[in-house]
Amino acid sequence: MEKISVLAFNGSAKKNGNTAKLLKKLTGFIEKDAKVKTIHLVDKKIKPCLSYCAEGGTTCSYPCSIKDDMHGLIELIKKADCVILASPVYWYAMSGLMKNFIDRLTSCDVAEPPVLDGKVFGFVTTAYLDGAAGVTLQMLAPVSSMGAIIAPYNDLFANNGKVWREEFGVKPVKRLAKNLIMLTELVKEKQGRWFYPK
Ligand SMILES: Cc1cc2nc3c(=O)[nH]c(=O)nc-3n(C[C@H](O)[C@H](O)[C@H](O)COP(=O)(O)O)c2cc1C
Repeated sequence: MEKISVLAFNGSAKKNGNTAKLLKKLTGFIEKDAKVKTIHLVDKKIKPCLSYCAEGGTTCSYPCSIKDDMHGLIELIKKADCVILASPVYWYAMSGLMKNFIDRLTSCDVAEPPVLDGKVFGFVTTAYLDGAAGVTLQMLAPVSSMGAIIAPYNDLFANNGKVWREEFGVKPVKRLAKNLIMLTELVKEKQGRWFYPK
């Protein structure tokens, strides 16, 4: 089987901050089995979603009618088998960079087939105090609604400098890396689409 390709997005404004460091730990394990490319959203020009999918006379289209770096990023997502989203907690929520990016994935959902259908997703979140688990859910729910498959044991988050579960002797970085690879290989082998009647 061809090597799987993994695309990781760092949603922190820092390219070498806590989120980037934890993400790098994860991709470090993945690199043994896959081609990995990391993109720092702070380097990209991504305008806000104009809400054409909401009622009011306009319609969301694919490709998105907004001309910016999102087009190139969506082309990369199309080629990837697995996508990782990483965000710091900013005021109880994901970063603005990550939220803007996820909002702009909306056009992928009107593509036929939807761009995220069958892509395996994993998540990394860091917080100073608390809230990283909640931000994982904030990123997970929209991509699941757009057809993504979520890796099992997806609890790679750090609160207060501590990676959750590491204190219990569980190695969540290695575990998520292995599960992302295993699930992506399984999905790639099947090459199927999800049941989604129009
Ligand atoms: C604007 C802003 C808001 C933040 N809000 C929270 C918060 O609500 N809860 C928390 O635990 N940490 C909060 N933090 C701290 C960051 O989540 C934490 O330091 C994170 O690891 C930073 O990651 P980075 O180095 O990749 O930017 C906030 C930081 C910033 C800059």
